[in-house]
Amino acid sequence: MIAYFNHEYLPRDRIAVSPDDRGFLFADALYEVIRVYGGRLFRAREHMERMAYGARELAFPVTDFGYLADVSGELIRRNGLDAADAVVYLQVTRGAAPRAHPFPPEGTPPTVYAAVREYPQDPARLEAGIDAILVPDQRWARCDIKTVGLLGNVLAAQEARRRGVGEALFVRDGFVMEGSHTNFLAVIEGVVVTPPRTNYILGGITRQAVLELCRDLGIPVSERPVTHGALLGADEVAVLGTTMEVTPVVRVEGRPVGAGSPGPVTRRLQEAFRELVRS
Ligand code: PDD
Repeated sequence: MIAYFNHEYLPRDRIAVSPDDRGFLFADALYEVIRVYGGRLFRAREHMERMAYGARELAFPVTDFGYLADVSGELIRRNGLDAADAVVYLQVTRGAAPRAHPFPPEGTPPTVYAAVREYPQDPARLEAGIDAILVPDQRWARCDIKTVGLLGNVLAAQEARRRGVGEALFVRDGFVMEGSHTNFLAVIEGVVVTPPRTNYILGGITRQAVLELCRDLGIPVSERPVTHGALLGADEVAVLGTTMEVTPVVRVEGRPVGAGSPGPVTRRLQEAFRELVRS
């Protein structure tokens, strides 16, 4: 597989990252995961804008990585994935320098990595939905920045796996924030409710696309905090993300959501999302 590393296209197994890299030492790095449908990037501009936002918030010397959209397209071509469903992974670090907490010397170039791999949809999961659990949110207070500092997410996802379910949803001060690698929505009295964008959640590209679809379909939306209790009482729940798309959640903590099967609003949104990504 051909990947991209610091201005070069090369076989992925020839890439060598410095042990001084700040991504390795401090998780001083940003990443993006972009879905590819039929060889075409889904909402690449939005992903690049989110990376630029993260780079500004972290005071990276370089903040515009827009060229990585073209790099991603080139990787799709070079790997013969022109008609495939795939994911592109992008990562940018603050570069390599002898270990010291403050920023490295001026002029230290960022480390830039991009790779693509085939990633087919999972129709069975989209159809049947998943179970979810609730876990305490132990992450830092800048979850709006897509950094590779994902240990809280890793531990939550592992707990979900250990308990045999598809996702773990973070609860902070009694409110459900987002999943280990997804945002979520709940359908409450006919309204699609999703937590507002704050520093405690990632502004998901899928979440944004789904909110736009709700508006197109005339489904009422409310961006407001969702308590633990409200989630357990919701008629429908779904998780939203680049990899999970719009996946129904049919049980939370072992208790059925609504009728315990994917509900009508989720089905309409899945259908509309499918049309959107194939258009
Ligand atoms: N995760 N919240 C968190 C914590 C995430 O890690 C993600 C995505 C999302 C959904 O964002 P988007 O719709 O832009 O993918 C929400 C990616 C896919 C990952 O880490 O693999």
